[in-house]
Amino acid sequence: MESNTGNGWETVGGEYFDAADVYEQELRTVFARSWQFIGHESMVQQPGDFVSLPMGNDAIVLWRDGASGKARAYLNKCRHRGNKLCLHDRGKANSFTCSFHGWTYGTGGQLTGVPREKEAYRVPLDRDRLGLVEVPRVEAVGGMLFGNWDPAAPALREYLGEAAPLLERYVDNAGLGGLQFLPQPQKYIMPVNWKLLAENFAGDDYHFKVTHASVISLMKQNPAAALSHGLQKERRFTVATNFGTGAAHGFLELKVGPEAYEEDLAKADKLGPEAVEWVRHRHQVISDGEDDLAYAFHAGNVFPNLALIGISSALYASGFLLWIPRGPHETEIVQWAAVDRDAPDVVKRRAVMVLKDRQAAAGMVAPDDHENFERIAANVRGTVSRTVPFDYSMAAGIAEQFPDPDDADYAARWAQRGLGTLFPQVSEANQREFYRTWDSYLRGGASGAAPVTSEPHRRGQT
Ligand code: FES
Ligand SMILES: [Fe+2]
Repeated sequence: MESNTGNGWETVGGEYFDAADVYEQELRTVFARSWQFIGHESMVQQPGDFVSLPMGNDAIVLWRDGASGKARAYLNKCRHRGNKLCLHDRGKANSFTCSFHGWTYGTGGQLTGVPREKEAYRVPLDRDRLGLVEVPRVEAVGGMLFGNWDPAAPALREYLGEAAPLLERYVDNAGLGGLQFLPQPQKYIMPVNWKLLAENFAGDDYHFKVTHASVISLMKQNPAAALSHGLQKERRFTVATNFGTGAAHGFLELKVGPEAYEEDLAKADKLGPEAVEWVRHRHQVISDGEDDLAYAFHAGNVFPNLALIGISSALYASGFLLWIPRGPHETEIVQWAAVDRDAPDVVKRRAVMVLKDRQAAAGMVAPDDHENFERIAANVRGTVSRTVPFDYSMAAGIAEQFPDPDDADYAARWAQRGLGTLFPQVSEANQREFYRTWDSYLRGGASGAAPVTSEPHRRGQT
């Protein structure tokens, strides 16, 4: 195999995590043109159901249209004087009425009501011109809904590429009833540029044993409550999807071998026979007769800003984390918990508790990351400090080589399944891929599939 993991992103300038002009450029190029997670079908099942969320730094409302039955996404902005229209995180409404002058809109986005219209406007108001601004593309893979402002963007499935079957098999598996989301997400702020969070979930298994040493120490003291991360012997990989070609979506800690399954069975045993039966059933559905297929990956990042965690275990709820850019040094996190709909309640309850214990604002894991990120954000503000690049050179050029021939053999078989490219567990290939994709958007690539460049983007270039 030709080595192409040294793709020009072995270093990334510190100013990319600090400069206001880079941040503004990202909003215009990355966030206004890539596919972003905007919710799940189950959140807006009935006509009138809505959830309000951001796409990039724009507030939108995802709303089930009563007439077409479609889930549609609109800017959460009244067309009169720009007031925020929907003031709730979620709910059900056949119309929204603006709190400023009272314009009213229906689920199809149409302007349906204008107070004192005849008296105030005297000639008929062109209501068609003043409907809600709609996100032109909303598509789903599994039940996961993504929106895109770019009418010319490739189809979602094409954009996800090799990530699509991974998401359908491991994250939102129809054979397990699909996902059921807890109604209210957690929201919190990380004082750092959004890219450091995204690349962390896409590729950084390297930090876990150091940053989260206290968690590992706790697990060792209490094996019954242990999270398997870093403590087991099964084969583990990092997965790059669309490697070197399209939009790069990275997945961490792909577990291959019986250990993760056996660990789930042992934990389920303490919850009772119903839980054990579920763990068996789930494994059967996911592996789909392919005996050597991995149990699941633990975390990942769908470019640009949807991260996943807890996918590796039947007893760990799936965390969906949106990285909302709020400035060069601030990222708002909207974090949902989801469980397999068909799982028994005893499993659902345990799974949600485990996610909240770990990856949450007051969990055992996220605050460790928070502290490092806060210090990094302070450092990239320094006049000299911001000129010193970050290093992503780990095993560049040889990242795809496996010292163990059995691993190499497995990686080759995995690639044949069209599920991405495997790398050793500790690798920075996915971070380099993340910046390759980011760069192609900054240069104006419509799909993230712009040609791979060997010359990294420099500020001021377009
Ligand atoms: S701003 Fe909404 S009605 Fe005036
Ligand atoms: Fe971490």
